[in-house]
Amino acid sequence: MIIRFAQEKDLSEVNRLRRQVNLVHVEGRPETFKPGFSKEMEEHLYAIYQDPEQKVVVAKGEKNTLLGFAVLHHICKPENPVVFERRHLEVDEFCVDDAARRQGVGKSLIEFIRNYAREQGYQRIELNMWEFNKGALAFYEAVGFTTYRRFMEMKL
Ligand SMILES: CC(C)(COP(=O)(O)OP(=O)(O)OC[C@H]1O[C@@H](n2cnc3c(N)ncnc32)[C@H](O)[C@@H]1OP(=O)(O)O)[C@@H](O)C(=O)NCCC(=O)NCCS
Repeated sequence: MIIRFAQEKDLSEVNRLRRQVNLVHVEGRPETFKPGFSKEMEEHLYAIYQDPEQKVVVAKGEKNTLLGFAVLHHICKPENPVVFERRHLEVDEFCVDDAARRQGVGKSLIEFIRNYAREQGYQRIELNMWEFNKGALAFYEAVGFTTYRRFMEMKL
C-alpha cells in the first residue's frame, strides 16, 4: 500500500468513497444528510483540491486501486479576549473502501497524517464525528483520539 497526497487524476475515485461516507451519514442521520450524491457534492472535491489550505490524501493498493482517503484542513483561529490562538490540522473527511476495512488502511492513513502534522509543526490533529457512527468512534479511539468537547441536542 502507498499513502500519498492526491493528484487530480485520483479525484473521481475519491468521490466513489465520498459517496460511501455520505451513505453512512444518510442512514445514521436522515433528518440532516441529503440522500444521493449530487453534482455539487462531487464538484466540491475539486474546490477542496485547489484550496491551498486543504490537502487530499489517498491510500492506494495493488493495481492502483483506491483503498481510502482523507481531507485535511490547516486551521488557524486567531486569538480573542477569551482564548489563545488555536492552530491545528483538521481531518474533515475520512473513509476506507468498504471492501478494504479492518485491514489497517485507516490506521496507516492516520500515521501518514500524524507525520505530516508533526512536519508542519502542529501540536494537535482534530476531527469531529457523528455520535451514531460507533464504528468510526471505535476506530478513532483505537488510533489514539480522545474526546475533548461535545455537541449536545434535545430532540423535540
Ligand atoms: C472508520 C473506518 C475509517 C476505519 O477504517 P479501517 O481501515 O477499517 O480501520 P483499521 O483496519 O485501520 O482499524 C484499526 C483499529 O480500529 C478499530 N476499528 C476499526 N473499525 C472498527 C469498527 N467498525 N468497530 C470497532 N472497532 C473498529 C479496531 O481496533 C481496529 O483494529 P483491529 O482490526 O486490529 O481490531 C472505516 O470503517 C470507514 O471508512 N467507515 C465508513 C466511513 C466513516 O464512517 N468515516 C468516518 C466519518 S467521520
